[in-house]
Amino acid sequence: MEERPLEREGVDRAFIGRLVREFYRRVRHDERLGPIFGREITGDWEPHLEKMTDFWCSVILKTRSYQGRPVPAHVKLKGVTEDDFDIWLSIFAETADDLCDPDTAKVFVERAERIAQSLKLAMFFRLPVAATRGPMPA
Ligand code: HEM
Repeated sequence: MEERPLEREGVDRAFIGRLVREFYRRVRHDERLGPIFGREITGDWEPHLEKMTDFWCSVILKTRSYQGRPVPAHVKLKGVTEDDFDIWLSIFAETADDLCDPDTAKVFVERAERIAQSLKLAMFFRLPVAATRGPMPA
């Protein structure tokens, strides 16, 4: 079933833009994630922040403002581990808790966790070697 747009007072594009900016401000200060993003975004951060605002508006408000493809953007990243996703998610949850009321924070965090799970599957899931060799099991 298609998810409905979240309708909550104060949760609009301007608010999402502030949340995104505060989240990436914290990410850039993180000793592990800061350098990963610093390698990829070498110039102006504004285009990334606007893209991420479009992305979160699409996820939460169903605006369809983001038309990109997150999977290839992450699969090509070098040196990112599954543990890095835990760091990403904890900074995201802290930021949402600080800026949103608890019910709204819960919606953002649940969506982030779900998307992180599918990005991790795309980046790290490999069939066990045994399953890629030999005859099909009967
Ligand atoms: C450790 C975890 C993660 C790392 C290191 C990471 C890193 C990056 C980097 C370096 C970019 C490219 C920035 C640019 O050049 O504009 C990017 C793009 C993006 N990230 Fe992540 N990311 C992580 C997790 C996530 C999660 C959990 C989400 C969603 C909930 C997400 C959503 C996106 C989106 C939508 C884009 C834009 C892709 C595009 O259309 O180009 N990322 N990420």
